[in-house]
Amino acid sequence: MSKILVTGGLGYIGSHTVVALQYAGYEVVIIDDLSNTDIDFLDRITSITNVRPAFFEIDLKNQEKVNEFFKTNKIDGIINFAAHKAVGESVEKPLMYYRNNLLGLINLLDAMKDFDADNIIFSSSCTVYGQADKMPIDEQTPLKKPESPYGKTKQMGEEILEDFSTAFDKNVICLRYFNPVGAHPTAKIGELPKGIPNNLIPYVTQTAAGIREELSVWGDDYPTRDGTAIRDYIDVNDLADAHVKAVTRLIENKNKAKLEFFNLGTGTGSTVLEVVHAFEEANDLKLNYQIKERRAGDIIEAYADNSLVEKELGWKPETKLAESMRTAWEWQKSLKK
Ligand code: WQD
Repeated sequence: MSKILVTGGLGYIGSHTVVALQYAGYEVVIIDDLSNTDIDFLDRITSITNVRPAFFEIDLKNQEKVNEFFKTNKIDGIINFAAHKAVGESVEKPLMYYRNNLLGLINLLDAMKDFDADNIIFSSSCTVYGQADKMPIDEQTPLKKPESPYGKTKQMGEEILEDFSTAFDKNVICLRYFNPVGAHPTAKIGELPKGIPNNLIPYVTQTAAGIREELSVWGDDYPTRDGTAIRDYIDVNDLADAHVKAVTRLIENKNKAKLEFFNLGTGTGSTVLEVVHAFEEANDLKLNYQIKERRAGDIIEAYADNSLVEKELGWKPETKLAESMRTAWEWQKSLKK
């Protein structure tokens, strides 16, 4: 049975990917420093699949600990989620973001080189495209300088991986997520933001739960069909499935190049108000929201052309926005219990 290391495996997308990997028959080992999640996600994952992943509490910034891990674990594939991801926080604390996201990655790559691990999947983001000139966004779309240090760590991470792949003959796939949403249908795992949520959906669900007073809709004066910004909201369970397909591609040597990039989105854009109304309809409730000024740094529109990933990985997102809104709400309600 192939053994997959998932760094950040107790986090939002990481935990859903661990579940999907276990269902696909992989042995999973998790490294997480618990900086942005809770150790009880280990029990939560186990309660879904009845298979408890091995877990190591390691900070990837500690090269010695990372090497110790690789000395005693033969790894067939790595999925690297471990990173800080709050756009706003990265603007206030750029050095923390560069140290955590890039030094952590470099230590992992060093260990791959020294301990003969050949395959890595990198958690990247559509933020590397900035405000693209044309929609939908495909993998040939020119990259633009991201607005935030968070986004820059994704772009720099891809560049580091390009040189790593060439210098040491390693197999790399960068998955560029659009906007991850939703939760596991069991409502046992989901997004657990610490503090005030940066992203739209956790803010929506916390407003519906009465934790937040009202949702601010950041700007309705964009050049879009209803004036609010457009994004491509991709369900986390579909994202997890794409990671299983990507790491399998490398383990089975089906990659067509040492370095590949795939956009992970539904291919459909939704405005903020369309998402708000989808949430209300899916859950039969009214959301308290107010239109406010635009948020600095926001782009107008981004949605994916996902034809390449469908062709190469045979991956197609199955989950409709309404279902993601339902599972997000079920997860939020489960937290109150
Ligand atoms: C989506 C839309 C906001 C909150 C970022 C990263 C990306 C990815 C997802 C990390 C925008 C609007 C939001 C709110 C609102 N990575 N909004 N009120 O900025 O598209 O992408 O997060 O997980 O790499 O760049 O996501 O969810 O913050 O915003 O009106 O309270 O919702 O203005 O139009 P974003 P988001």
